[in-house]
Amino acid sequence: MQTRALPGFRDFYPDDLVLRSHIFRTWREVAARYGFEEYDGPPLEPLELYTGKSGAEIVGQLYCFSDKGGREVALRPEMTPTLARMVAARANGLRKPIRWFSIPQLFRYERQQRGRLREHFQLNCDLIGEAGPLADAEIIALAIDVMRAFGLGAGDVRVRLSDRRVLTALLQGGGVAADQLGDAFQAIDRSERTPREALAAQLAAAGLGAAAVDEVFRVSSLRGWPAVQQALAESGAPAGASEPLARTITALEAMGLGEFIEVDLTIVRGLAYYTGTVFELFDAGRSLRAICGGGRYDTLLAGLGGVDLPALGFGMGDVVLGELLRERGLVPPAIGAIDVFVAGITADDEPHVLSVAHELRNAGFRCEFAFGGQALGRQLKLADARSAGQVVVIGPEERARGEVILKDLRKQAQRAIPRAAVVREVAAAAAHG
Ligand code: HAM
Repeated sequence: MQTRALPGFRDFYPDDLVLRSHIFRTWREVAARYGFEEYDGPPLEPLELYTGKSGAEIVGQLYCFSDKGGREVALRPEMTPTLARMVAARANGLRKPIRWFSIPQLFRYERQQRGRLREHFQLNCDLIGEAGPLADAEIIALAIDVMRAFGLGAGDVRVRLSDRRVLTALLQGGGVAADQLGDAFQAIDRSERTPREALAAQLAAAGLGAAAVDEVFRVSSLRGWPAVQQALAESGAPAGASEPLARTITALEAMGLGEFIEVDLTIVRGLAYYTGTVFELFDAGRSLRAICGGGRYDTLLAGLGGVDLPALGFGMGDVVLGELLRERGLVPPAIGAIDVFVAGITADDEPHVLSVAHELRNAGFRCEFAFGGQALGRQLKLADARSAGQVVVIGPEERARGEVILKDLRKQAQRAIPRAAVVREVAAAAAHG
């Protein structure tokens, strides 16, 4: 029998789910602060949703097959095409700008490595119907504020920010032809993982001359806003190419988030549909892979649904983020499994145990009792193992007096209380605990 999950897939035992729930809760809480509404779509989609627009890398990683009706289908590797399809289908009826978020589980047949699995959960936040740079700042601020809500500051995480419009202006100014831009972007995207000679050979094969190849590497090594501005001035790039990026940076500074931002033209993003701002969020020490990536994709909705709406957003995975939170000791402690345990002393107490336990559950307490007639000592151990703060003990003598015993396990104290007052007394003790 196969006793393990498939490679790259995770079992979430309850202890593991503490971190996942913390991540989801925080994602939802911060997205709500920005007025984002939650949506979802199907995990299985038509294959062609990805083959047209997502780009070769992700298409090579698809889990795809023919279903029993002969349809070519794929498990979703990313959410953006689903979102674009959903919005395009109802574009006229939706109030703009659309602020939507989702937490899909995604599937990619990748080579498994640290921070990369074959399934992951990804917060997607997207803003649709706004072309101006304040929307870019808003989306980047949201990603940063998610980090801050986890307790991570500018010393822990950084946004590497770039803009394909700026890259295009610089590369074209340096002799890269319009039809070679795709190859140049791909080389820049791989420049931190692939040796320069291999990339240079690919660029040469794509028809770039030696000077243009050098220009690709020079542009991709530009760091910091002043250096980029100077390069733009020297290249004679059209005025305006850098204006959206400049305004995005200014807006983020006005929000007090400037210290998180590093302009870095190595960031271009692997997905094919980005048209403007692109960014990735990394741990400041850069020992982990990207926590989050996103950008502007102003032509995807027109391409998929025939609706011309500008759009941008990001995807933030749970895997690298989870590693970082564990590394920094930012995982919340598991809360006790239950609030109160109900124990009986004799077999005759059983119906009373059931009745009290049910009253407590009706009142909203997390409550358990033992299934077999176990000795009181064993029941108390069970209560302790379940982190119950309180135990209600029911025995024949107390019953005869119309009472039960309420034990406070944290204070190691106990007292008799009226049977009729159990819910009230447990609530009062919980409030003081
Ligand atoms: P992406 O860069 O492919 O973008 O993924 C975004 C984030 O998801 C990555 O930075 C990483 O944290 C996480 N991630 C991706 N693949 C894996 C994997 N195999 N294992 C673990 N984590 C992974 C997109 O998917 C775009 N659709 C994001 C977007 C939304 N752009 C605009 N809106």
